[in-house]
Amino acid sequence: MHPLEQLRDDALREIEAAPEGQALEAARVKYLGKTGSISLWGEQMKTLAKEEKPVVGKLLNEVRNAVTAAIETRSERFRAEKESGALAKIDISLPGTPPEIGALHPLTQMWERSIEIFWRMGFALADGPDIEDEWHCFDALNTPPEHPARNEQDTFYLPDGRLLRTHTSTVQIRTMQAAPPPIRVIAPGAAYRRDELDATHSPQFHQIEGLYVDENVSVADLKGALEFFMRELFGSGTEVQFRPHFFPFTEPSLEVYVKSKALKGGERWIEVAGSGVVHPQVFEQVNKARGDKIYDPEKWSGYAFGLGMDRLAMILFDIPDIRLFGQNDLRFLRQFA
Ligand code: DAH
Repeated sequence: MHPLEQLRDDALREIEAAPEGQALEAARVKYLGKTGSISLWGEQMKTLAKEEKPVVGKLLNEVRNAVTAAIETRSERFRAEKESGALAKIDISLPGTPPEIGALHPLTQMWERSIEIFWRMGFALADGPDIEDEWHCFDALNTPPEHPARNEQDTFYLPDGRLLRTHTSTVQIRTMQAAPPPIRVIAPGAAYRRDELDATHSPQFHQIEGLYVDENVSVADLKGALEFFMRELFGSGTEVQFRPHFFPFTEPSLEVYVKSKALKGGERWIEVAGSGVVHPQVFEQVNKARGDKIYDPEKWSGYAFGLGMDRLAMILFDIPDIRLFGQNDLRFLRQFA
């Protein structure tokens, strides 16, 4: 018997006899470790005579593979034994801990549904900060300094002069500053006003802003898009009405009302959005900030809208009080699972 074969048999016997992982590891080190006996044989190879080398080399490989495989098999066995031992300790007759099944907040559901509908119309998502400067919130949107919205009674100002955005229309400006036309984005997010908290008003509420800028965009496009949206959201029987209004940043401006027999209180019109055709002054302000003339009001036109997300969710889910959105009451939230 070649001494290597003897070595292999010793190793295999020792591995088979190892009672647990530590003994097995000791055997591994003894034979296959850096200074292990099989490894040392590898180093002795260079001292062998030329004709011996291939024979011993082949044998050495076989021995090394056999020992390696035996160690793996044995260690796999230990692992399996350990696992079944742990399992045996579990009392499967005990009642389990039921997983708490959560649900998305109704506003989040509203948000996801809306994004999905606009996504089908080709709108991309845009975003902007809740803490804004006056320029993005008012000046760029053609809202003069004496406008009542800029009053301290209506807007939360920070000591440094910045403010909590009073509407998501700020994202229109940021989007146009960042990219040339055409633009087709929606921006869902929070907005803040100094309203007293009651069933229909909250100092923090949510909007989805929309902005579409291209060549030859008209009121007809605006109406088509919003009618489609409302019918997708509330059902095909939904009626949509546009009433003339005033916003500094659109001309003409329209308020959007919906009515649907499928909804609770379905006999009356409910205001859900402000909208209009982007005012040329807004493009001019954006040009000034960009330092170019790319939003040329002679070439490009656009429509914009701001949907009241809380309002839409209240209609869709028949929620009577806006305060419920912020109270974290599980009895309320569970109803939307
Ligand atoms: N920002 C308006 C508001 O908060 C809503 C609105 C009106 C947004 C007209 C628009 C728009 O983009 O074009 O009441």
